[in-house]
Amino acid sequence: MANRILTPKDKIIVPDYVGLFDRVLEEISPFYNEEAIRETKSRYTQEYIENNLRSDSERFIGHFTGTSLDGLLIEGFDNLDGNRTVIRWVMAGKKGKGIGTDLIMDCISRAKREHKDNVALGVSLKNTLARNLYKKLGFISGGTYINNHGLLMEVMGYIF
Ligand SMILES: CC(C)(COP(=O)(O)OP(=O)(O)OC[C@H]1O[C@@H](n2cnc3c(N)ncnc32)[C@H](O)[C@@H]1OP(=O)(O)O)[C@@H](O)C(=O)NCCC(=O)NCCS
Repeated sequence: MANRILTPKDKIIVPDYVGLFDRVLEEISPFYNEEAIRETKSRYTQEYIENNLRSDSERFIGHFTGTSLDGLLIEGFDNLDGNRTVIRWVMAGKKGKGIGTDLIMDCISRAKREHKDNVALGVSLKNTLARNLYKKLGFISGGTYINNHGLLMEVMGYIF
């Protein structure tokens, strides 16, 4: 098992990346609303990811078992609450096999190496399994907020 930040050399993997993203997004669609799902899908298209494999503002990480892509994590960066890495999405192709943990721990180590102040994420309050996993890995709750789609979310942070 290995994680890799996708680069322009990985263009060939992008269709699989989008396929995995859309499939897992469908699985968790009950936590969101139609508008949020539609907007998310229309943001992370094959073209968008291909054009952003060199981006300074977003990073696409893949989890591979052998050569097969079976997990993904999308990182963003901002300065809203310190110099932070934001986990925009983390998704495992097969659940409960350690893929999500591996991707998240790797993201935390990278953020530490890059001297970030914290790793933050927003998760639907309905996504109890994911929230429990973040808690287990050391994230603390920063409270709830309503996002731009009117959904009740919890902000969580891993502070160094
Ligand atoms: C959340 C997610 C990334 C976790 O990855 P994972 O590889 O399944 O998780 P791991 O195997 O590393 O860890 C297992 C833990 O994940 C949690 N978990 C979250 N969703 C789960 C699911 N559908 N099935 C099993 N465990 C799940 C459990 O708390 C479990 O803890 P436990 O082993 O103490 O019971 C993954 O379940 C997933 O892709 N879910 C759908 C997408 C999503 O909700 N992403 C988060 C919002 S961005």
